[in-house]
Amino acid sequence: MAKVIGLTCNANRFYSATASKVKARKYVLTKYFEGEPKKSDFQIVEEELPELKDGEILTEAEFLSVDPYMRAYMIGYKLPTDMIGGQVAKIIASRNKKFPEGKYVAGSFGWRTHTVCNPSVAPTIGFLPTTLLPDISPHPVSLGLGVLGMPGNTAHFGLKEICHAKPGETIAITGAAGAVGSHVGQIAKALGCRVIGFAGTDDKCQYLEKDLGFDKAYNYKTANIRNALKDGAPNQVDCYFDNVGGEISTTIMNYMNKYGRVAVCGSISSYNDMKLPKVTILQPAIVFKELKVEGFLVNRWIDRWDEGINANLKLLREGKLKYNEKIYHGFDNMVEALVGMLRGENTGKAIVKVK
Ligand SMILES: NC(=O)c1ccc[n+]([C@@H]2O[C@H](COP(=O)([O-])OP(=O)(O)OC[C@H]3O[C@@H](n4cnc5c(N)ncnc54)[C@H](OP(=O)(O)O)[C@@H]3O)[C@@H](O)[C@H]2O)c1
Repeated sequence: MAKVIGLTCNANRFYSATASKVKARKYVLTKYFEGEPKKSDFQIVEEELPELKDGEILTEAEFLSVDPYMRAYMIGYKLPTDMIGGQVAKIIASRNKKFPEGKYVAGSFGWRTHTVCNPSVAPTIGFLPTTLLPDISPHPVSLGLGVLGMPGNTAHFGLKEICHAKPGETIAITGAAGAVGSHVGQIAKALGCRVIGFAGTDDKCQYLEKDLGFDKAYNYKTANIRNALKDGAPNQVDCYFDNVGGEISTTIMNYMNKYGRVAVCGSISSYNDMKLPKVTILQPAIVFKELKVEGFLVNRWIDRWDEGINANLKLLREGKLKYNEKIYHGFDNMVEALVGMLRGENTGKAIVKVK
């Protein structure tokens, strides 16, 4: 049996393991990232799984998530460590009546093919509670990693609880064509806001305007941001959903209305940087416009997790929420997928289909 260093789900079970026929493959991070993540930062190891105890399930991963937080978070773990991450998995054996064989769960099991866990016990590492996926046919179960999962709840709670966006207000969104950003824009449109987005290619901007109904979208790599704001937000900006940080955020905050609200969700523009970039000081904008700037982590609302999922499911069923997935293929290509997402290859949610 492979040496087990840290697990995402009920870790102690694995130490008391007895021999079993099921073997999991998993990624172990052995080297901290420097710049972009590399294959050589990981080892893929095999692990024999234990027999199920009462309350436990055995799952087989079908879709694994690659998310920006993976690049930012691993520095906080002692190496070597199992790679963290969400997955949608099929229950292939169960000793838990609430989680029957054949159903799907979303859980923080990490980058691994098979998992034994008790879904009623909170995971020891990671963000997500282990939840049974509702019936979402004809939509794919992979939405449990996107609009009906962690990014969807980030959009829902960030907009509702941090931005407090109201009908008629203007919201600006960076990282607008990604999993969280594209979702925020659509909820804001459903609310009756004017929505402007910033994304990294013309195709992404066209997708936001034509397919998702954003009022305006701009390529932040080619546009003059201040001119774009003047064009897209004639009444200036009331809410800013900040997915990227850096200079563009300072420019947007300088273009906000008094008492504007800023939801600081992430700062992907600097995740791969070895040295933090210098940005123009933004405190004067915060002071003179009396902005409310608040960072948040989506697990603040773990107790209300189902509320977010159900709100997004309702929007999906009403046809008010569209989604797109960038699907990478193969368990052995997790690192390529993570790097691809960080480079902006995805429109919508980046995921990996395991087989
Ligand atoms: N606070 C929370 O609880 C929470 C939860 C989930 C996510 N987040 C944060 O939310 C943000 C978006 O996450 P996501 O899962 O939705 O990822 P995503 O937007 O689906 O994927 C990342 C995107 O970031 C963009 N990007 C890469 N480098 C950039 C740069 N230098 N400047 C601007 N954009 C850049 C790329 O799109 P372009 O082609 O547009 O550059 C890429 O597609 C991240 O900052 C993430 O850390 C926070």
